[in-house]
Amino acid sequence: MVRRALSAALAVAAFSATVVADGAKCGPGNLCPADAPCCGQYGDCGVGAFCLGGCDPLFSHSLDSCVPNPVCKSGDYSLDSLDDVQSIDKYLGDSSKINWQSQGKPVTYAPDKSLLLTMAEGTVGSLLASTFYVWYGKICATMTTSQGKGVVTAFIMMSDARDEIDFEWVGVDIQNAQSNYYSQGVTVYTNAKNLTVDGNTVEKTHEYCIDWKPDSLTWAVDGSDMRTVKRSDTWNKTSNRFDYPQTPSRIMLSLWPAGLPSNAKGTIDWAGGVIDWNSPYMQNGYYFAQVKTVTVDCYDPPSGAKINGKKSYKYTDMAGTNNTIELSDDIVILGSLMGTGTEPGEAETKTDSSTSTKTVAMVPGGNPGGGGKQETPVATQGADSNATPTAGDVTQINPTGGQAFVQGTGNQGSGTSLQPGLGKISGSGLAIVLAVLGLVVL
Ligand SMILES: *[C@@H]1O[C@H](CO)[C@@H](O)[C@H](O)[C@H]1NC(C)=O
Ligand SMILES: *[C@@H]1O[C@H](CO)[C@@H](O)[C@H](O)[C@H]1NC(C)=O
Ligand SMILES: *[C@@H]1O[C@H](CO)[C@@H](O)[C@H](O)[C@H]1NC(C)=O
Repeated sequence: MVRRALSAALAVAAFSATVVADGAKCGPGNLCPADAPCCGQYGDCGVGAFCLGGCDPLFSHSLDSCVPNPVCKSGDYSLDSLDDVQSIDKYLGDSSKINWQSQGKPVTYAPDKSLLLTMAEGTVGSLLASTFYVWYGKICATMTTSQGKGVVTAFIMMSDARDEIDFEWVGVDIQNAQSNYYSQGVTVYTNAKNLTVDGNTVEKTHEYCIDWKPDSLTWAVDGSDMRTVKRSDTWNKTSNRFDYPQTPSRIMLSLWPAGLPSNAKGTIDWAGGVIDWNSPYMQNGYYFAQVKTVTVDCYDPPSGAKINGKKSYKYTDMAGTNNTIELSDDIVILGSLMGTGTEPGEAETKTDSSTSTKTVAMVPGGNPGGGGKQETPVATQGADSNATPTAGDVTQINPTGGQAFVQGTGNQGSGTSLQPGLGKISGSGLAIVLAVLGLVVL
């Protein structure tokens, strides 16, 4: 069903381009092709925004297809306007100019000097992601959550290699924050834990902090430590490494529709049911979560880190582990959304107008969520779509199953509104399609 919606979206996009390519998929054992070298966060290949935040170096055409990750920037980021926010279809990688990238529709809420992450019917919510990465640090968000069945608010850290640290709030439980973590997107069923919040999470802002060190990870609420995970307790004999978040990660804040009827049953159940789009919890036609400030205290690179610069973090090896991250001075800013890590391109590229019908996706679209994946496991999903994980079960991104980062299935949210510079590049050898890719739900 999602595929049908997807085709419709593609058809709409196609009028301004030519033929729509069958988007290549990426995941373990499946690297992106040379002409669409970057593996975006939803497991699809493309150029442009696919090569920026969320670009998985391990499944891209080569380790340098994705642009290097801009280094951590300590600061107090007050999210009281959209001045420091740029839509994903405009951002070209210059993190010195802009600190946040958006999908969906964040709006300014002046009375409270804050931003609202909104989610209206027919959309897949909103996402804010930092343009810089944190490689260990203390990250705090002062925020409220949304409320209602199927509505999930998230504040997470997510690396391009899919290490993840989560705070998530399901809209039917306004007493608890759910904490969780993953390593390289591997599903582990025992990592989730509820953290009780004093008062509720909706009416009043609380400060949620993630204190991420090379050896330990602590979740705190309003200044009280609620949970600590030690790296030494995460050794995995099978994979022969610590299943501990250890790679540079972006900060993400999102509101997403876990309770869409088209989602896996386990996801909907976890989120408390199917979303009611006539809910008293909506205002101005949307659900919302409010974010006031994000503070970031960057820690020094871990001892033993390879230091060859101070502007970016780079993956040097397919292992995607802490010891393969290098600090470098390489920064890549794309000339246009046709650029990639190896060929960033010029701002005003003159392209030959040969008659290629080739198409390439430039902006990963679809679901702008940005939080925990609460899908039923890939293995059981096809065979038994009623498989219901037990409480707290969480399936993580599984690129093989193609449901990476799927948090909903709408197409109308961020994706279809993306129309960057079509005029400028039409007629180019590569016809551009702003495809809403990345939506694969069985
Ligand atoms: C260990 O890693 C393997 C391979 O990634 C994974 O399938 C398994 O679930 C992990 N085990 C635990 C206990 O986390
Ligand atoms: C990476 O982690 C290992 C433990 O897995 C640790 O011994 C090592 O010092 C770390 N290296 C860096 C550069 O963080
Ligand atoms: C967290 O609390 C919810 C109820 O609000 C419960 O359904 C769920 O099982 C709990 N999760 C864990 C991991 O304890």
